[in-house]
Amino acid sequence: MTTQDTITRADTEKMDSADPIAHIRDRFALPEGDIYLDGNSLGALPLGVMERLEVAVKEEWGNGLIRSWNDADWYPAPQRAGAAIAGLIGAEADEVIVCDSISVNLFKLLMGALRMRPTRKIIVSEIGNFPTDVYINSEVANIMGCELRCVMPEEVEAAVEEAGENLALVQLTHVHYKTGRIYDMAGITKRAHDLGGLVIWDLAHSAGALPVQLNECNADFAVGCGYKYLNGGPGAPAFVFVAKRHLADMNQPLPGWHGHAEPFSFTQDYKPHAGIDRMLTGTASQLATLALETALKVFEDVDMNVLRQKNMALGDLFIALVEQELGGMGFELASPRDAKGRGSQVSLTHENGYAIMQAVIARGVVGDFRAPDILRFGFAAPYVRYVDIWDSVTHIREVMETKEWQRPEFNERRAVT
Ligand SMILES: Cc1ncc(COP(=O)(O)O)c(C=O)c1O
Repeated sequence: MTTQDTITRADTEKMDSADPIAHIRDRFALPEGDIYLDGNSLGALPLGVMERLEVAVKEEWGNGLIRSWNDADWYPAPQRAGAAIAGLIGAEADEVIVCDSISVNLFKLLMGALRMRPTRKIIVSEIGNFPTDVYINSEVANIMGCELRCVMPEEVEAAVEEAGENLALVQLTHVHYKTGRIYDMAGITKRAHDLGGLVIWDLAHSAGALPVQLNECNADFAVGCGYKYLNGGPGAPAFVFVAKRHLADMNQPLPGWHGHAEPFSFTQDYKPHAGIDRMLTGTASQLATLALETALKVFEDVDMNVLRQKNMALGDLFIALVEQELGGMGFELASPRDAKGRGSQVSLTHENGYAIMQAVIARGVVGDFRAPDILRFGFAAPYVRYVDIWDSVTHIREVMETKEWQRPEFNERRAVT
């Protein structure tokens, strides 16, 4: 930084030169001229994925046909990708498997976990949790005759206490999708366990962004996303974690043939696989699983603590520049100011947020908008540079100063925001 404490573009260039993981950016195919601040929604394309898919489609599918399940080692791809993710979230390789979506995996875990606590009737979750989590929690509560108590984030601990011996489950999203606020995984897990309950964590905005320590926190269950910070591509399959100590008791409600102990014995009786494979239901979405598996190679030699330091610094820089450059323009910070309490994103509110974001995107700075008024900027440390933060804030300032956001095309709502 300069001595006047005003941050300049040159300061941010210096920060890039000192960045120990700057070279990771070269592992991505990024569009020329764009600044991509939406890796929290859809991760960028890692080099090698396209080539892997070309081989998978042309050679393995085209020529190998059905033989490729064995010959190209397709069949264990969900386990291999799961093992790679396990290394990023503090789990053992055989506690994580890739399959389905978060929504479907959450259903499996919720039902399975409630079956492990049959006499307990309260599920605690958060008002403002990601909608799919709320819908699935609420439907499972109906099916199982439980009460779903959704409370404000600051009331979660009190709600857990109040549920007491009737606490069956706590289900939370570790890093909030709108604000980026982080829950205390170790503390909440411990308190729920002290009362005899279980916890399911949604790691959609954590995996690949923070050094999650599931086993150190004694976590029970988790789900997470393949298409955000793990860069697996649009609609990439999700992952599911079950702590080893719970595997034998995890009786999930979608017992398809791929979760069977011996899928190819084609027996009529369902016998669950002894390990994490029991979380599978049907055939893997194979091309998508191979894309995700290849994308995960980006992280092979990356220290998640170093990556985390960088995304905290990117977020701090963004907040400092918003204050320096966008004062009096109607923006408010919607994320925790303290980087330790914030995931890899910073959200701002503005009454004209939708149109402003569209105008900023038209300039090639890609963030996203979440109703009613949140502009979200994600800082995927593998490919976002400090100078990108400087340039993004400059674009936002220009969009405001020129009133560019008022143009009619930026005020028309599109289907995906
Ligand atoms: C926190 C959170 N949970 C769940 C989901 C949905 O996951 P899926 O589409 O895999 O069901 C999202 C998607 O953005 C999310 O942000």
